[in-house]
Amino acid sequence: MPPIDVRGRSLMYDDGGDGEVVLCIHGFPFNRSMWDEARLALASRYRVLSPDLRGFGESSGSESWTLDDQANDLIELLDHLAIDRVAVLGLSMGGYIALNLARRYPERLWAMVLIDTKATSDNYDAKQNRLKTAETALREGAAPIAAQMLPKLLSPANAEDQRLIERLNGMMLTTNPKTIASAAHAMASRPDSTPYLSTMALPSLVIVGNDDQITTPNDAHAMVAALPHASLVTIPDAGHMSVLEQPEITYGAIRVFLDQAQQG
Ligand code: MLT
Repeated sequence: MPPIDVRGRSLMYDDGGDGEVVLCIHGFPFNRSMWDEARLALASRYRVLSPDLRGFGESSGSESWTLDDQANDLIELLDHLAIDRVAVLGLSMGGYIALNLARRYPERLWAMVLIDTKATSDNYDAKQNRLKTAETALREGAAPIAAQMLPKLLSPANAEDQRLIERLNGMMLTTNPKTIASAAHAMASRPDSTPYLSTMALPSLVIVGNDDQITTPNDAHAMVAALPHASLVTIPDAGHMSVLEQPEITYGAIRVFLDQAQQG
């Protein structure tokens, strides 16, 4: 797809399949290629839209931004394509943005899938770590950030999977260090979505890798308990990257959920 123009910046996206729209929001510091399996798994029944968020992948960046800005860009993309409502799928930082959309643009969503993510904001220590991440990225580039993150991303069952490691490194190492810094600041200043969960009345599915150490099964349970219409799927032998570590099980669960949400 040719990129769209969002106030002078280009936003790149993939768009495939027919049917109700599913908007896939990638995590940090990744890009839209993490959703390649989504198109294979869902596009026979759904139109799968997967953008590169501002500054990531092939989308151009800006000096600094917030998660509100990222959510607003996605609404601009939907407006540009004349799409009224979507099911939103967000992984980790993409989940923070999905929750932002559910809070600020509930009328644009018909279902929500929160994958390896959490509703809470950063505590003091996490915020301090974000500042260090931003400084390191600006000083030394993406490599030390990728090296720090990689051991935390995968389940022990997949920790030696070289294809997966190459794919993750391929995304992380090509992310612009300025984008890494902006994202770290944006995530540090995101609000706690917990108080809003009870107002999110849309059908929701929460997915978590059993071995996710970044956004844990406890985080997932807490969201399911607070969301009015949510169910939980725990993925065995998956860490923080369920959609890449166990694509068949994960997209199988997503597909069943979307089909039910559409009928309901
Ligand atoms: C992500 O995968 O998007 C990040 O791990 C999110 C975070 O650092 O909070």
